[in-house]
Amino acid sequence: MGMTYYEQNRTAFLEGLKTFLRIPSISTLPEHKPDIRRAAEFLLAELRSAGLASVELIEGPGNPLVYAEWLGAPGKPTLLLYGHYDVQPADPLEEWKSPPFEPDIRGDNIYARGACDDKGQTLILVKAVEGFLKTRGALPVNVKFLIEGEEECGGEHITHYVKQKPPRLAADAAVICDTEMFAPELPTICVGLRGIVYGELHVEGAGHDLHSGVYGGAAPNPIQAIAEILTALKDRAGRIQIPGFTDRVRPPSDKEKAAWAGLPYNEEEYLKEMGARALVGEPGYSVFERTWARPTLEVHGIRGGFTGEGAKTVIPARAVAKVSLRLVADQEPEEAIRQLEQAVAQACPKGVTVRTKILHAAGPSLVDPEDRFIRAAAQALTEAFGKETVYTRSGGSIPIVGVFQEHLGIPSVLMGFGLPDDNLHAPNEKFHLPNFYRGIEAVARFLEVVGA
Ligand code: BES
Ligand code: MN
Ligand code: MN
Repeated sequence: MGMTYYEQNRTAFLEGLKTFLRIPSISTLPEHKPDIRRAAEFLLAELRSAGLASVELIEGPGNPLVYAEWLGAPGKPTLLLYGHYDVQPADPLEEWKSPPFEPDIRGDNIYARGACDDKGQTLILVKAVEGFLKTRGALPVNVKFLIEGEEECGGEHITHYVKQKPPRLAADAAVICDTEMFAPELPTICVGLRGIVYGELHVEGAGHDLHSGVYGGAAPNPIQAIAEILTALKDRAGRIQIPGFTDRVRPPSDKEKAAWAGLPYNEEEYLKEMGARALVGEPGYSVFERTWARPTLEVHGIRGGFTGEGAKTVIPARAVAKVSLRLVADQEPEEAIRQLEQAVAQACPKGVTVRTKILHAAGPSLVDPEDRFIRAAAQALTEAFGKETVYTRSGGSIPIVGVFQEHLGIPSVLMGFGLPDDNLHAPNEKFHLPNFYRGIEAVARFLEVVGA
């Protein structure tokens, strides 16, 4: 039976995960292109040995997509299983206790970049399917894997592919393991994700760098200008000041808010998880509303002037700020971009010019918790974890979810097995191994429930 296969093969699953994690498939850094391909090829081999058919790389504009299918259950639903094999950069390297691409097991955790986001969780889907094919030679449902390699850098290869609506992607629902559990031991389904608009503000002042003593007092300063633009876009209380920006925001229902109020939350612990002193953000909204149901504006980096050791008295000629907006239902990326560009131009102080360059954008998503696939997932999770499943949203973005909804007309079941302290995108990313094994069993159970 399925379960014993999963129990017997834990060591092999772990070895597979380690091999996957040793490949530094960082999608945002061009020098890692060969690693991107190796990660895609690792998945090809895994899917082939799991017993899937039509296993292939889909080449196109960007990193290869990995495709595989098993369609031997006519009359049963078809699930589109999605994951991403690319990872975030590992810096700052000096803060890792073990090297990011040498997976290290300490206690119940495996530490490596991508352990949770999303290699460990992508492998959960592969291993759940493998169990059925190895023990029964058949699955209770039809499955199609579509795994991408540019989720972390906002690449659009998968979007282009899905928009063509190739008949081979027809499915009843997507299944994605790329989110977090609300708390350890608490099975969680994420029913909402934020969208994103990521851009750069390029500010130019004088024709060349200037002596700050000689010209200071008369020369425009692009870094000061960036500070002024940013503080015009969001006030000190945390309210975004971009005209019209929040008009389309759909507030969560009273029912959803009541459910959130019942989640086990402790502000002290939340602060500890972040290592922060105090929470900030828009007045009048709970922390769940602020992180799940309200849009945000964040600045990620400012480049310009002198940033080395010691002092250099310079007024830089130019500076760049990296910023993003997170969007919630029913905001639209195209409109948000126009509003941002206008607000930036409006806030630009005298003496400098500013150009807004958009790097990528994706819409928000919301799924109906009453959907039959969501309910099946809740049942499977509850059985696997022995606890009632909770429904949350997340402030993060998985761009393809909105694309699946819009272009394939299918909901995504977000059953995630990360933990709040898994350090996604940060040093010492980890995956809780009991969640790896239990995730595989929970997904297997889900396939059974859907196929019943
Ligand atoms: N898996 C994350 C998103 C996520 C994390 C959702 C935690 C829910 C809980 C995904 O890999 C991610 O990091 N997405 C990026 C998207 C962007 C680069 C287009 C994000 O949210 O910043
Ligand atoms: Mn991810
Ligand atoms: Mn990520």
